[in-house]
Amino acid sequence: MTSTVVVGGFFGDEGKGKIISYLAVKDNPTVVVRGGAGPNAGHTIKDGDKVYKVRMLPSGFLNKNAKVMIGPGVVINPDVFLKEITDFDASGRAFLDKHCGIIEQSHLNQDSKGELKEKIGSTGSGTGPANASRAMRTLKLAKDIDSLSSYIDDVPQVVNSAIEKNENVLVEGTQGTFLSLWHGTYPFVTSKDVTASGICADIGLGPKNVDEVIVVFKSYVTRVGTGPLSNELNSADTTEKGWAEFGTVTGRPRRAAEFDFELAKRAIMLNSATQIAITKLDVRFTECAGKTNYDELSSEAKSFIKNIEDKLKVPVTLIGTGPAINDIIDRRK
Ligand code: IMP
Ligand code: MG
Repeated sequence: MTSTVVVGGFFGDEGKGKIISYLAVKDNPTVVVRGGAGPNAGHTIKDGDKVYKVRMLPSGFLNKNAKVMIGPGVVINPDVFLKEITDFDASGRAFLDKHCGIIEQSHLNQDSKGELKEKIGSTGSGTGPANASRAMRTLKLAKDIDSLSSYIDDVPQVVNSAIEKNENVLVEGTQGTFLSLWHGTYPFVTSKDVTASGICADIGLGPKNVDEVIVVFKSYVTRVGTGPLSNELNSADTTEKGWAEFGTVTGRPRRAAEFDFELAKRAIMLNSATQIAITKLDVRFTECAGKTNYDELSSEAKSFIKNIEDKLKVPVTLIGTGPAINDIIDRRK
């Protein structure tokens, strides 16, 4: 039985939602718990014909036996939280901590204009201004909001007692390593640390209780909003490669570049990765679409994976080959 932390290795949008929803169904954790910034995150999950776009709840909600929880470090938009519980049929199993911060209208207003919007390209979700208010000790917390009272639980307690009982716990990060306020391309970053240690602090999980850290890389790099992106492709080349994507939360076009080994190496170090997940292999190698067995991959695709393992010295255990949760090669154990 294992505690597994899943984080993004580049600039967010690596496909964490798909990896986490697969693990939530496959490993049957009793608790799926989210750390990270707030509703600036957007995870897309495809289950059969259904496509879910999640901003607040953990992407693991597809497993109906798991408690889906949000740790105290995260800031909440109560409207988004309550709507997702209804939309995703998570009533009775979705909880947040009494110390989750609350995004108010004033935070949304501050985030939708001025420097944050124009220079940093923020998502406009109020996440950064709410975290600023928390640092000023003026932010309301979940325990102050009546409409949230029936959803409150002691998230660190639930997480740690599940681990003590030897149950599987899945910890979900948001954004990506180079959007971290500490380790990213400041000032073009989000409003918190989003590396594995930061995500664990958000949910009250101490470093000795983490078994596996999975860093998720997409087969190419994308970045939404402003900030540096080495070897950025122009939009014609991005489209030609089939790498043109649009943001889940903002709908903005994502900028794209080749897989970046320098960034990836640093992400492995900063997160103390024990495993790598590679997503969208089918976008690079269309012949690999929907494959579930490593042996069925083309030799080009295999050398792409092998090169990543050789250069980063961490095993690639999960490989995404399509948008649906079961379009995956699972090489663990
Ligand atoms: P903020 O977190 O909304 O303030 O946005 C700061 C920067 O991080 C902007 O460049 C956003 O586009 C980016 N960002 C924030 N959250 C995400 C995410 O979940 N995926 C990708 N980019 C994000
Ligand atoms: Mg996203």
